[in-house]
Amino acid sequence: MSLSPESDSLPAGAGTATAWAQEDLETLAARGLRRSLEPLESAQGALVRVGGEVLINFSSNDYLGLAASPTLRAAAAAALEQYGVGTGASRLVVGDTVAHRRLEARLAAFERSEAVLLFNTGFAANTGILPALVGSGDAVFSDALNHASLVDGCRLSRARVVVYPHAEVEALARALEETPARRKLVVTDTVFSMDGDHAPLAELVSLCRERGAALMVDEAHATGVLGPRGAGLCEELGLSEQVDLRMGTLSKAFGGMGAYVATSRPVAELLLNRARPFIFSTSLPAALCAAAEAAVDVVEGDEPLRERLWRNIRRFSAGLRALGFPAEARSAIFPVILGEPARALDAARHCRERGLLVKAIRPPTVPEGTSRLRFCLSAAHTEGHIDAALEVLRGLRGVRG
Ligand SMILES: Cc1ncc(COP(=O)(O)O)c(C=O)c1O
Repeated sequence: MSLSPESDSLPAGAGTATAWAQEDLETLAARGLRRSLEPLESAQGALVRVGGEVLINFSSNDYLGLAASPTLRAAAAAALEQYGVGTGASRLVVGDTVAHRRLEARLAAFERSEAVLLFNTGFAANTGILPALVGSGDAVFSDALNHASLVDGCRLSRARVVVYPHAEVEALARALEETPARRKLVVTDTVFSMDGDHAPLAELVSLCRERGAALMVDEAHATGVLGPRGAGLCEELGLSEQVDLRMGTLSKAFGGMGAYVATSRPVAELLLNRARPFIFSTSLPAALCAAAEAAVDVVEGDEPLRERLWRNIRRFSAGLRALGFPAEARSAIFPVILGEPARALDAARHCRERGLLVKAIRPPTVPEGTSRLRFCLSAAHTEGHIDAALEVLRGLRGVRG
């Protein structure tokens, strides 16, 4: 958000909404939940420049350090030259290009799936897919810690929404048994975005099969990180073919922007006909498609890069455990849970003053009482960066209280 340089002399509008906003902002501030923006003055990377300072970045989902990679930049620049900046319309109108088709074909090969459909963002994918698949008379079963975009997709669908306790398969089994519905769809993150833990995927697959339910997973934080070729938790567990819809983002390990769903041809065809963010929104710029295609090649082909990320994950988790924090090397995400928002804000400030950029995560992103620092590891971090973070955490007073 930016204010006009002349904001003091400009009319502020009719005033009613402004009064509402002021009231709500005061409430947020009193609860330690008001948020603000902080622009980077550099590209994304292990080191970023913010407010004139160079900081070690532990808040980015750029897990493989591809967001500023010369390979992706070159692919995007060539497509920018060929296609220009905007696409002018949704894909169903005139915004479909060969770059979109090529990316879908590349992703289908990577995911070993019959079909892939692109979306503009992960948020658009989740809020589009769920209402296209289920509606009134149906039921959707959603893990309590699912990402906000899945939560909103469930709400928009008009299906009955049953939230089951986090990763509790028995509770889900009971809910599936007890909930009458025409169609039943279970939906879960595979790697949970704020905790870094895994969904009990093998059990979910068997349960859905037993109960005739469909399964949709969100691999946003698993794609590029888990699996022998980086194709996520489904690939890691050899379950890709048994999951009805696998959604992945291009905005995290792939270093760009956009999302996709790997699924059967009929499901992809239905989404193309029904998913409102797909139908009613201008398509992804071709330059981002070309960058993503290059990113898939890197993710699949550069095993040493993924191994570098995992070396960093193991080093950080061992260091955290040595400091007395509970930490498992399951993904690139490590929460340091502090409790109330003010404690997380203080901890973020402590880190910032010592050269680390790690943001405080507060409700509603995480449940009340679990405000935290969320450390994200990247293949671009050096051992020195990781050791510096551990040293700062050592000095973080009261964290373990
Ligand atoms: C689990 C999960 N799903 C979906 C999204 C949304 O993806 P995008 O940032 O591409 O909109 C996110 C991103 O924050 C996420 O963490």
